Amino acid sequence: MAEKTQLNRVATGVPGFDNLIEGGFVRGSTVLLSGGTGTGKSMFAGHYLMTGALAGEKCVYITTEEPIVKLKQDWLRCGMDFSKFENRNVFLEEINPLEMATLPRRLSSILDSRKPDRVVIDSTTMLSLSIDNQFELRKTFLQIISLLNKSTATTILIEEAASMTQYSATGDVEYLVDGVVVLRYMEEMPEYKRHLLVRKMRRTKHSETRHPIQITDRGLNLLKLK
Ligand SMILES: Nc1ncnc2c1ncn2[C@@H]1O[C@H](COP(=O)(O)OP(=O)(O)OP(=O)(O)O)[C@@H](O)[C@H]1O
Ligand SMILES: [Mg+2]
Repeated sequence: MAEKTQLNRVATGVPGFDNLIEGGFVRGSTVLLSGGTGTGKSMFAGHYLMTGALAGEKCVYITTEEPIVKLKQDWLRCGMDFSKFENRNVFLEEINPLEMATLPRRLSSILDSRKPDRVVIDSTTMLSLSIDNQFELRKTFLQIISLLNKSTATTILIEEAASMTQYSATGDVEYLVDGVVVLRYMEEMPEYKRHLLVRKMRRTKHSETRHPIQITDRGLNLLKLK
């Protein structure tokens, strides 16, 4: 009989999500959170960060395109107030999207100094777009994932979905990460326009259903399937 290995899981805290993936992300893994604009990527990440913050874990959020001030306003409007955690166990960092080549170096120094339990990079899209050569692109992402693997962090990388079947700007990142969670806004659907799909989650028996979600003044949550 095959021996069942119980893996250590990191709860995301997104209401209704963790039980789709056996309780959370595998500790130490790197998950791609992919979606079109306004689908709730940063909101999902806010829940992930707040769950870590409340548990006393060290959390790092690296934002490239949306300024920290605006992100904090969005989260606050949805009941997530990071003010009492900021610079204690939550560190919000900005990286200029035009200087994405510095990301591996910046990340390495952040991981060394902060030793975070949770990391979010929102987003890596400009990095994907800034490297023309596919070999160089994969090499850079492998370098980033290797840095994260050697660290204590469980990570969310955010990318804009390029199409219904391509989960990052160039279609490369999804092959390198441990998991892919997709957020979609389906304009043609009269009811439940917003959906979440677990497209891949290594070492996990996960839901393969499209789950309706909503965003309210309490953030993002999954709705019960009808
Ligand atoms: N208080 C709220 N009530 C209802 N919906 C809200 C509320 N706050 C935000 N939203 C919805 O959430 C969306 C923004 O979510 P979020 O910033 O997480 O999306 P995103 O995928 O990160 O977008 P972007 O591509 O701009 O980074 C808004 O476009 C709006 O539809
Ligand atoms: Mg965002």
